[in-house]
Amino acid sequence: MRIRVLGSSAGGGFPQWNCNCPNCDGVRRGTVRATPRTQSSIALSADGTDWLLVNASPDVLTQLRAAPALQPARAIRDSGIAAVLLMDAQIDHVTGLLMLRERKTPLPLLATPEVFSDISSGFPITGILSHYCGTERQELPIDGSAVHIPALPGLQLQTVALSSKPPPYSPFRGAPRPGDNIGLLMTNPATGAKAFYAPGLAEVTPDLMALMSGCAVVLVDGTFWTHDEMQRLGLSTKAALDMGHLPQSGPGGMIEQLDRLPASVRKVLIHINNTNPMLVEDSPERALLTQHGIEVAFDGLEITF
Ligand code: MLT
Ligand code: MN
Ligand code: ZN
Repeated sequence: MRIRVLGSSAGGGFPQWNCNCPNCDGVRRGTVRATPRTQSSIALSADGTDWLLVNASPDVLTQLRAAPALQPARAIRDSGIAAVLLMDAQIDHVTGLLMLRERKTPLPLLATPEVFSDISSGFPITGILSHYCGTERQELPIDGSAVHIPALPGLQLQTVALSSKPPPYSPFRGAPRPGDNIGLLMTNPATGAKAFYAPGLAEVTPDLMALMSGCAVVLVDGTFWTHDEMQRLGLSTKAALDMGHLPQSGPGGMIEQLDRLPASVRKVLIHINNTNPMLVEDSPERALLTQHGIEVAFDGLEITF
């Protein structure tokens, strides 16, 4: 099984168009050791030809240009993307669906009923797409039962409900429901090896800890370093958890959580906000992660399991 990180940044990307925080300004000027990143998405394939796009980032077209493996070119109009699965209805995860409208047949689209409801009302993407390629809707269960995607028979998947937040445009932003945010468990059918992906994660419950402990690799929420990162920079009045993201540092933070996993689990932070100091490769924050055996995802990172 092959995972390609298409976009490792959170909403806004790195650098963000209107942001002049030390990271964004520094990466633009070339004065900090950091690499630009596009918005949040991964792709998964069993055969290296047909892929599940997990989240459709606003940057999907740029991401595809950088990933020849997703362009097998078997016909005059063709893509390696066989289906799209959504982790939530956030702008950074769904807007790219509009960029896939030139498809010749309806796009197989997997999401929970909660996510389908947000992207057919508040941000009516499925309605808009019905005037282009259309979508072939497949509802995702959140009870851990197996997900079979007809177009991708080689994939063995399960989804789990996570504690995080639906998007600001959702009527449920203030009262999240199970199904607003999910994690994706991917299993290699030949070896039983597992990978887990959760770009939006506010709480690591005992069940989730047990699930992650059984994985070969986890790709989890790396949005913010501190709970008040945006507030301290004067960029937002909201704390990390108000936005549904568990910060890395501090008591109970993501570093502490990942430390509890067996040493055999490869730990990768993903969905990184542009303000996060760990983006700077020679920062003390990055050094601390290295000490804890935690990696920072980058665009183009490939993981096989
Ligand atoms: C989030 O996950 O909180 C998002 O990245 C927000 C956004 O897309 O604007
Ligand atoms: Mn996001
Ligand atoms: Zn910034």
